[in-house]
Amino acid sequence: MSTQLGNQRPSKITTRTIVDMKSAGEKISMLTSYDFSMAQIVDQAGIDIILVGDSAGNVMAGFETTLPITLEHMIYHTQCVIRGVERCLVVADMPFMSYQVTPKEALINAGRLMKEAGAHAVKLEGGRSVADTVKKIVNAGIPVMGHLGLTPQSIYKFGTYKVRAKEEEEAAELIEDAKALEKAGCFAVVLEKIPSALAKKVTNSISIPTIGIGAGKHCDGQVLVIHDMLGINKDFNPRFLRRYADLHTVMTDAVSSYVSDVKSQNFPSDNEQYD
Ligand code: KIV
Repeated sequence: MSTQLGNQRPSKITTRTIVDMKSAGEKISMLTSYDFSMAQIVDQAGIDIILVGDSAGNVMAGFETTLPITLEHMIYHTQCVIRGVERCLVVADMPFMSYQVTPKEALINAGRLMKEAGAHAVKLEGGRSVADTVKKIVNAGIPVMGHLGLTPQSIYKFGTYKVRAKEEEEAAELIEDAKALEKAGCFAVVLEKIPSALAKKVTNSISIPTIGIGAGKHCDGQVLVIHDMLGINKDFNPRFLRRYADLHTVMTDAVSSYVSDVKSQNFPSDNEQYD
């Protein structure tokens, strides 16, 4: 893989590497994963960051929103991912209500994701409202990634998954939030579902990398949910999503061939049994 960091690229990606990638003009690749086997494939394919997203609540557990997933669930998923990874940075999402009550409680919970699960960093949603919490976590030596724009843990406040910050006032607030997260010590910030021109402005206003999902090409990196980009979910079709495979069809065809082979006694064959 050719990269702008070239020979300076360390064998393990750290938060420092991610920040340096922005200065070097190298785009950052991030995908979600939630289990050992997927994490192993994603890491070996050369990803920079695996996000153990609270989207696990949707794609792994089948919840309608990310709200029900617990800290215990996130610790479990992160432990599974960490065992599959040798090179990339692993960021674990802090679930809803694990960091909103007090900065002290947030620090304890972030500490559990690092100590019990082995995460390399944590991610949490919000801007100025979580700046003190970010500071407290970062001061304890835990790297924090921010998340602005469409923040799914606030879905009941927004009432819709539509593009955020299209109006000037909300766009200006978002830029202030991004600056506050940088000042509080975040090493990167996710921008979800905001206009591309605004993402460009944010990216140029802060020195830490922006990682976009539905935020256009000017971000310093991109992130997608792995089930979406592999086409495992066939019913989620937002404009920003590029599908790199149609695993829904591949898997459905494989399972139905297996069912039919078992029923017709075509499986197992003589070569697929022991003498
Ligand atoms: O939980 C998640 O997968 C995320 C990404 C969409 C950024 O937060």
